[in-house]
Amino acid sequence: MSKITAAITGVGGYVPDFVLTNKILETMVDTNDEWITTRTGIKERRILKEEGKGTSFLAIKAAEDLLRKKNLNPKDIDLVIVATATPDMKAASTAAYTATQIGATNAFSYDLEAACSSFLFGMSTASAYIESGRYKKVLLIGADKNSSFINYKDRATCIIFGDGAGAVLFEPNEEGLGLQDEILRSNGEGREFLQATYGGSSYPIKADTFDEGKHYVFQDGKTVFKNAVFNMADVAERILKKNDLTNDDISWLVAHQANKRIIDATANRINLDDSKVMMNIQKYGNTTSATLPLLLNDYESQLKKGDKIIFAAFGGGFTWGSIYLKWAYN
Ligand SMILES: CC(C)(COP(=O)(O)OP(=O)(O)OC[C@H]1O[C@@H](n2cnc3c(N)ncnc32)[C@H](O)[C@@H]1OP(=O)(O)O)[C@@H](O)C(=O)NCCC(=O)NCCS
Repeated sequence: MSKITAAITGVGGYVPDFVLTNKILETMVDTNDEWITTRTGIKERRILKEEGKGTSFLAIKAAEDLLRKKNLNPKDIDLVIVATATPDMKAASTAAYTATQIGATNAFSYDLEAACSSFLFGMSTASAYIESGRYKKVLLIGADKNSSFINYKDRATCIIFGDGAGAVLFEPNEEGLGLQDEILRSNGEGREFLQATYGGSSYPIKADTFDEGKHYVFQDGKTVFKNAVFNMADVAERILKKNDLTNDDISWLVAHQANKRIIDATANRINLDDSKVMMNIQKYGNTTSATLPLLLNDYESQLKKGDKIIFAAFGGGFTWGSIYLKWAYN
């Protein structure tokens, strides 16, 4: 019997309607379109404005898009993983709510959090369940409502992040397609450079810290930038070497959309032409766990069976890694 690999067999995506443009940000903080565009590549991002709607709202929409496109009965799904850094609430699982709302009533579900690497690490988790033969249909959703913890008075962060969600289905494959290899890493010494300090178990929110805005995301942009460039490019290069691949073999780079300059640096390190680099940061900004599946969703019609794809991500923690995957359908 041939070895079972874990292939992506469907994708879906969702972004909210409200478009927060660089022009609008110019009216909110001391910044300008030219600075944001040249430093990050971002022109606009989507924001979920409606009161009471959290990350699950985005996750449900992306999952429903996938179910519709694949004509999949949600009752056939075994497991729903929601990769997110912005769960709906403490204690209650965002994935459990999402799974029930989409009708995946035979599935179990849980959240997975590794900041901007959540979806990449989730690909490893979802694939392992499939490869082991334990489950046949694993729905992996990357969703984040970043606007829920961004300070729209802080120009260092509010220009970068947006809201969105993407979903993929992993199923067994006997043609050797799907996930081939991975290099995943973390280093907790990086956590001081990118975090929302208050609101977790170390520092619960108190009235005085609330006034100081310490529940919002803080980042030392320069340090994060340097580490992201070094580590994302490093793992992408190493996974190519490890699998005897050259730039000619690679059809696509699917890189976390945090900053166009970080993506370009990763592509340059593996000598990949711009035409092979998926890019949608200009439309959505950094949607954290949703960047990779939203790229797949936007580029789905251009993907061909057998395409060799390199995924790469870097995020808070620090967390980072690269995955090599063969696309499974036209
Ligand atoms: C945030 C980031 C775009 C800032 O770009 P940068 O080139 O490093 O800019 P710096 O932070 O050094 O700031 C340069 C200057 O621009 C200013 N500046 C910062 N944000 C600005 C903004 N939105 N508009 C205008 N000026 C801004 C700074 O105050 C600084 O001014 P100074 O030189 O007078 O002190 C960049 O560091 C970055 O992308 N970091 C990684 C972010 C990331 O990937 N985060 C998520 C990880 S998953």
